[in-house]
Amino acid sequence: MAKIIGGLTTSHIPAIGNAMHGKLEQEPYWKRFFDGYEPVRQWLDEVQPDLAIVVYNDHGLNFFLNQVPTFALGCADSYQNDDEGWGIPASADVKGDAELSWHIAESMIRDEFDITTCQEMKVDHGFMVPMNLFWRDKPAANWPKAIPLAVNTVQHPLTSAKRCYDLGKSLRKAIDAYPEDMKVVVIGTGGLSHQLQGERAGIIDVDFDLQCMDRIINDPSWMTGLSNDYIMEKAGTEGIEVIMWMVMRGALNDRVNVLHKHYHAPISNTGAGVLLLTDAE
Ligand code: DHB
Ligand code: FE
Repeated sequence: MAKIIGGLTTSHIPAIGNAMHGKLEQEPYWKRFFDGYEPVRQWLDEVQPDLAIVVYNDHGLNFFLNQVPTFALGCADSYQNDDEGWGIPASADVKGDAELSWHIAESMIRDEFDITTCQEMKVDHGFMVPMNLFWRDKPAANWPKAIPLAVNTVQHPLTSAKRCYDLGKSLRKAIDAYPEDMKVVVIGTGGLSHQLQGERAGIIDVDFDLQCMDRIINDPSWMTGLSNDYIMEKAGTEGIEVIMWMVMRGALNDRVNVLHKHYHAPISNTGAGVLLLTDAE
Protein backbone atom coordinates (compact mmCIF):
# COMPACT_ATOMS: atom_id res chain seq x y z
CA MET A 1 0.00 0.00 0.00
CA ALA A 2 1.07 3.59 -0.53
CA LYS A 3 1.96 5.43 2.66
CA ILE A 4 2.61 9.04 3.62
CA ILE A 5 5.91 8.84 5.49
CA GLY A 6 6.32 12.53 6.24
CA GLY A 7 5.24 16.12 5.79
CA LEU A 8 7.69 18.86 4.85
CA THR A 9 7.38 22.61 4.50
CA THR A 10 9.53 25.24 2.87
CA SER A 11 9.51 28.71 1.40
CA HIS A 12 9.70 28.79 -2.41
CA ILE A 13 11.10 32.23 -3.20
CA PRO A 14 12.93 32.57 -6.53
CA ALA A 15 15.98 34.17 -4.86
CA ILE A 16 16.73 30.75 -3.32
CA GLY A 17 16.95 29.30 -6.81
CA ASN A 18 19.29 32.08 -7.80
CA ALA A 19 21.46 31.44 -4.72
CA MET A 20 21.68 27.69 -5.48
CA HIS A 21 22.51 28.38 -9.10
CA GLY A 22 25.23 30.87 -8.08
CA LYS A 23 26.54 28.48 -5.36
CA LEU A 24 26.04 31.13 -2.67
CA GLU A 25 25.01 28.62 0.04
CA GLN A 26 28.06 29.31 2.21
CA GLU A 27 27.87 33.12 1.88
CA PRO A 28 27.07 34.85 5.20
CA TYR A 29 23.66 36.02 3.96
CA TRP A 30 22.57 32.52 2.98
CA LYS A 31 24.46 30.11 5.25
CA ARG A 32 22.03 29.90 8.16
CA PHE A 33 19.08 29.62 5.79
CA PHE A 34 20.57 26.69 3.84
CA ASP A 35 21.90 24.99 6.99
CA GLY A 36 18.26 24.77 8.08
CA TYR A 37 17.63 22.23 5.30
CA GLU A 38 20.45 19.79 6.07
CA PRO A 39 18.58 17.57 8.58
CA VAL A 40 15.69 17.21 6.15
CA ARG A 41 18.01 16.36 3.28
CA GLN A 42 19.69 13.71 5.44
CA TRP A 43 16.33 12.25 6.39
CA LEU A 44 15.25 12.14 2.74
CA ASP A 45 18.49 10.36 1.89
CA GLU A 46 17.72 7.75 4.54
CA VAL A 47 14.05 7.16 3.79
CA GLN A 48 14.25 7.49 -0.03
CA PRO A 49 10.65 8.49 -0.80
CA ASP A 50 9.27 7.32 -4.13
CA LEU A 51 7.07 10.32 -4.71
CA ALA A 52 6.46 13.89 -3.48
CA ILE A 53 3.12 15.67 -3.58
CA VAL A 54 4.08 19.34 -3.91
CA VAL A 55 1.42 21.77 -2.71
CA TYR A 56 2.26 25.13 -4.22
CA ASN A 57 0.72 28.12 -5.91
CA ASP A 58 1.24 28.97 -9.53
CA HIS A 59 2.38 32.59 -9.87
CA GLY A 60 1.02 33.30 -13.36
CA LEU A 61 2.96 30.75 -15.41
CA ASN A 62 0.52 27.89 -16.01
CA PHE A 63 -2.57 29.80 -14.89
CA PHE A 64 -2.74 33.47 -15.70
CA LEU A 65 -5.29 35.79 -14.10
CA ASN A 66 -7.83 35.12 -16.86
CA GLN A 67 -8.39 31.57 -15.56
CA VAL A 68 -7.38 30.45 -12.10
CA PRO A 69 -8.66 27.22 -10.57
CA THR A 70 -8.89 27.10 -6.79
CA PHE A 71 -7.36 23.61 -6.67
CA ALA A 72 -5.58 22.00 -9.62
CA LEU A 73 -3.91 18.60 -9.71
CA GLY A 74 -1.24 17.58 -12.18
CA CYS A 75 -2.32 14.37 -13.95
CA ALA A 76 0.67 13.86 -16.23
CA ASP A 77 3.74 11.64 -16.40
CA SER A 78 6.05 14.67 -16.63
CA TYR A 79 5.98 18.37 -15.82
CA GLN A 80 7.83 21.04 -17.66
CA ASN A 81 9.87 23.52 -15.65
CA ASP A 82 9.56 26.93 -17.23
CA ASP A 83 10.41 29.10 -14.26
CA GLU A 84 9.88 32.77 -14.81
CA GLY A 85 12.19 35.48 -13.61
CA TRP A 86 15.07 35.39 -11.20
CA GLY A 87 15.34 31.71 -10.39
CA ILE A 88 17.06 28.54 -11.41
CA PRO A 89 17.53 27.91 -15.10
CA ALA A 90 14.90 25.58 -16.52
CA SER A 91 15.92 21.99 -15.82
CA ALA A 92 14.91 18.64 -17.27
CA ASP A 93 11.24 17.75 -16.97
CA VAL A 94 10.15 16.40 -13.60
CA LYS A 95 8.72 12.87 -13.62
CA GLY A 96 5.09 12.52 -12.56
CA ASP A 97 2.80 9.55 -11.93
CA ALA A 98 -0.40 10.00 -13.90
CA GLU A 99 -1.91 6.78 -12.56
CA LEU A 100 -1.64 7.89 -8.95
CA SER A 101 -2.80 11.40 -9.91
CA TRP A 102 -6.01 10.06 -11.43
CA HIS A 103 -6.59 7.90 -8.38
CA ILE A 104 -6.22 11.01 -6.16
CA ALA A 105 -8.47 13.04 -8.47
CA GLU A 106 -11.22 10.43 -8.37
CA SER A 107 -11.00 10.08 -4.62
CA MET A 108 -11.00 13.84 -3.99
CA ILE A 109 -13.91 14.47 -6.31
CA ARG A 110 -15.84 11.73 -4.52
CA ASP A 111 -15.03 13.71 -1.37
CA GLU A 112 -16.67 16.76 -3.03
CA PHE A 113 -13.47 18.68 -3.77
CA ASP A 114 -14.06 19.90 -7.32
CA ILE A 115 -10.44 20.00 -8.38
CA THR A 116 -9.23 20.83 -11.88
CA THR A 117 -7.30 17.99 -13.53
CA CYS A 118 -4.33 19.04 -15.66
CA GLN A 119 -2.88 16.62 -18.20
CA GLU A 120 -0.36 19.28 -19.13
CA MET A 121 1.18 21.55 -16.53
CA LYS A 122 4.13 23.88 -16.48
CA VAL A 123 5.60 24.35 -13.03
CA ASP A 124 7.17 27.57 -11.74
CA HIS A 125 9.40 28.49 -8.79
CA GLY A 126 6.64 27.55 -6.36
CA PHE A 127 7.24 23.91 -7.29
CA MET A 128 10.84 23.90 -8.56
CA VAL A 129 12.54 25.74 -5.71
CA PRO A 130 11.31 23.23 -3.09
CA MET A 131 12.32 20.25 -5.27
CA ASN A 132 15.75 21.74 -5.88
CA LEU A 133 16.18 22.59 -2.22
CA PHE A 134 15.36 19.15 -0.88
CA TRP A 135 17.16 17.18 -3.62
CA ARG A 136 19.90 19.71 -4.24
CA ASP A 137 22.77 17.36 -4.91
CA LYS A 138 20.83 15.38 -7.51
CA PRO A 139 19.88 16.17 -11.10
CA ALA A 140 16.13 16.37 -11.72
CA ALA A 141 16.27 12.98 -13.50
CA ASN A 142 17.20 11.35 -10.15
CA TRP A 143 14.54 13.03 -8.02
CA PRO A 144 11.57 11.07 -6.77
CA LYS A 145 8.48 11.36 -8.91
CA ALA A 146 6.34 14.38 -8.08
CA ILE A 147 2.71 15.43 -8.35
CA PRO A 148 1.91 19.16 -8.36
CA LEU A 149 -1.15 20.23 -6.40
CA ALA A 150 -1.75 23.91 -7.10
CA VAL A 151 -3.77 26.08 -4.71
CA ASN A 152 -4.82 29.53 -5.84
CA THR A 153 -3.30 32.07 -3.43
CA VAL A 154 -3.05 34.81 -6.05
CA GLN A 155 -6.41 35.80 -7.55
CA HIS A 156 -9.04 36.62 -4.91
CA PRO A 157 -11.36 35.24 -3.65
CA LEU A 158 -9.08 32.59 -2.17
CA THR A 159 -9.90 29.38 -0.39
CA SER A 160 -9.29 29.09 3.37
CA ALA A 161 -6.85 27.43 5.76
CA LYS A 162 -9.75 25.22 6.86
CA ARG A 163 -10.53 24.04 3.33
CA CYS A 164 -6.83 23.35 2.71
CA TYR A 165 -6.68 21.29 5.90
CA ASP A 166 -9.72 19.30 4.79
CA LEU A 167 -8.18 18.81 1.35
CA GLY A 168 -5.12 17.36 3.09
CA LYS A 169 -7.37 14.86 4.87
CA SER A 170 -8.88 13.88 1.53
CA LEU A 171 -5.38 13.50 0.08
CA ARG A 172 -4.44 11.20 2.95
CA LYS A 173 -7.50 9.06 2.36
CA ALA A 174 -6.61 8.74 -1.32
CA ILE A 175 -2.98 7.78 -0.69
CA ASP A 176 -3.93 5.28 2.02
CA ALA A 177 -6.24 3.55 -0.46
CA TYR A 178 -3.67 3.25 -3.28
CA PRO A 179 -2.67 -0.40 -3.64
CA GLU A 180 0.88 0.08 -4.95
CA ASP A 181 3.72 0.02 -2.41
CA MET A 182 5.03 3.53 -2.41
CA LYS A 183 6.59 5.95 0.09
CA VAL A 184 5.10 9.41 -0.27
CA VAL A 185 6.05 12.79 1.22
CA VAL A 186 3.75 15.82 1.15
CA ILE A 187 5.43 19.20 0.80
CA GLY A 188 3.61 22.39 1.79
CA THR A 189 5.35 25.36 0.20
CA GLY A 190 5.21 29.15 0.41
CA GLY A 191 4.94 31.65 3.23
CA LEU A 192 5.72 32.63 5.74
CA SER A 193 5.09 36.35 6.16
CA HIS A 194 5.77 38.46 3.11
CA GLN A 195 4.23 41.17 1.00
CA LEU A 196 5.82 42.04 -2.31
CA GLN A 197 4.06 45.30 -3.20
CA GLY A 198 2.32 48.39 -1.85
CA GLU A 199 2.90 50.40 1.30
CA ARG A 200 3.47 47.34 3.44
CA ALA A 201 5.97 45.70 1.07
CA GLY A 202 8.63 43.87 3.05
CA ILE A 203 6.46 43.30 6.13
CA ILE A 204 7.62 40.35 8.27
CA ASP A 205 5.99 39.44 11.58
CA VAL A 206 8.40 36.99 13.22
CA ASP A 207 6.13 36.37 16.22
CA PHE A 208 3.18 35.50 13.99
CA ASP A 209 5.34 33.23 11.82
CA LEU A 210 6.64 31.33 14.85
CA GLN A 211 3.14 31.09 16.26
CA CYS A 212 1.88 29.68 12.93
CA MET A 213 4.63 27.06 12.91
CA ASP A 214 3.92 26.04 16.46
CA ARG A 215 0.15 25.90 16.03
CA ILE A 216 0.30 24.09 12.71
CA ILE A 217 2.25 21.38 14.53
CA ASN A 218 0.31 21.21 17.78
CA ASP A 219 -3.04 22.86 17.26
CA PRO A 220 -4.06 23.07 13.61
CA SER A 221 -7.59 24.06 14.68
CA TRP A 222 -6.13 27.46 15.67
CA MET A 223 -5.02 27.96 12.07
CA THR A 224 -8.26 26.66 10.55
CA GLY A 225 -10.11 29.22 12.68
CA LEU A 226 -8.25 32.19 11.15
CA SER A 227 -9.80 34.28 8.39
CA ASN A 228 -7.77 35.10 5.31
CA ASP A 229 -8.10 38.82 6.12
CA TYR A 230 -6.53 38.26 9.53
CA ILE A 231 -3.67 36.18 8.10
CA MET A 232 -2.94 38.87 5.50
CA GLU A 233 -3.14 41.66 8.07
CA LYS A 234 -0.51 39.89 10.18
CA ALA A 235 1.63 38.22 7.51
CA GLY A 236 1.18 40.39 4.42
CA THR A 237 -0.77 39.71 1.26
CA GLU A 238 1.55 36.96 0.04
CA GLY A 239 1.84 35.60 3.58
CA ILE A 240 -1.49 33.94 2.80
CA GLU A 241 0.58 31.24 1.05
CA VAL A 242 0.86 29.64 4.51
CA ILE A 243 -2.58 28.11 4.02
CA MET A 244 -0.89 25.59 1.70
CA TRP A 245 1.02 24.21 4.68
CA MET A 246 -2.36 23.11 5.99
CA VAL A 247 -2.78 20.64 3.14
CA MET A 248 0.40 18.94 4.32
CA ARG A 249 -0.81 19.08 7.94
CA GLY A 250 -4.22 17.62 7.09
CA ALA A 251 -2.48 14.68 5.42
CA LEU A 252 -0.83 13.67 8.72
CA ASN A 253 -2.26 12.29 11.95
CA ASP A 254 -3.80 14.58 14.57
CA ARG A 255 -0.61 14.18 16.57
CA VAL A 256 2.78 14.46 14.91
CA ASN A 257 6.45 14.07 15.73
CA VAL A 258 8.63 17.07 14.95
CA LEU A 259 11.80 15.72 13.40
CA HIS A 260 13.03 19.15 12.38
CA LYS A 261 11.94 22.79 12.73
CA HIS A 262 13.84 25.84 11.51
CA TYR A 263 12.98 29.49 10.95
CA HIS A 264 15.02 32.23 9.32
CA ALA A 265 14.12 35.85 8.54
CA PRO A 266 14.50 37.74 6.43
CA ILE A 267 15.46 35.90 3.30
CA SER A 268 14.65 38.05 0.29
CA ASN A 269 11.38 39.59 1.53
CA THR A 270 10.09 36.67 3.55
CA GLY A 271 10.15 34.79 6.81
CA ALA A 272 11.17 31.26 5.86
CA GLY A 273 10.16 28.15 7.80
CA VAL A 274 11.23 24.52 7.41
CA LEU A 275 9.37 21.64 9.04
CA LEU A 276 9.76 17.89 8.92
CA LEU A 277 6.86 16.10 10.59
CA THR A 278 5.90 12.45 10.81
CA ASP A 279 2.80 10.74 12.16
CA ALA A 280 2.68 10.08 15.89
CA GLU A 281 0.46 7.20 16.93
C1 DHB B 1 9.24 36.18 -3.02
C2 DHB B 1 8.40 35.31 -2.33
C3 DHB B 1 7.48 34.52 -3.02
O1 DHB B 1 6.62 33.64 -2.40
C4 DHB B 1 7.39 34.60 -4.39
O2 DHB B 1 6.52 33.78 -5.01
C5 DHB B 1 8.21 35.48 -5.10
C6 DHB B 1 9.14 36.26 -4.40
C7 DHB B 1 10.25 37.01 -2.28
O3 DHB B 1 10.18 37.11 -1.08
O4 DHB B 1 11.16 37.54 -2.93
FE1 FE C 1 5.19 32.73 -3.78
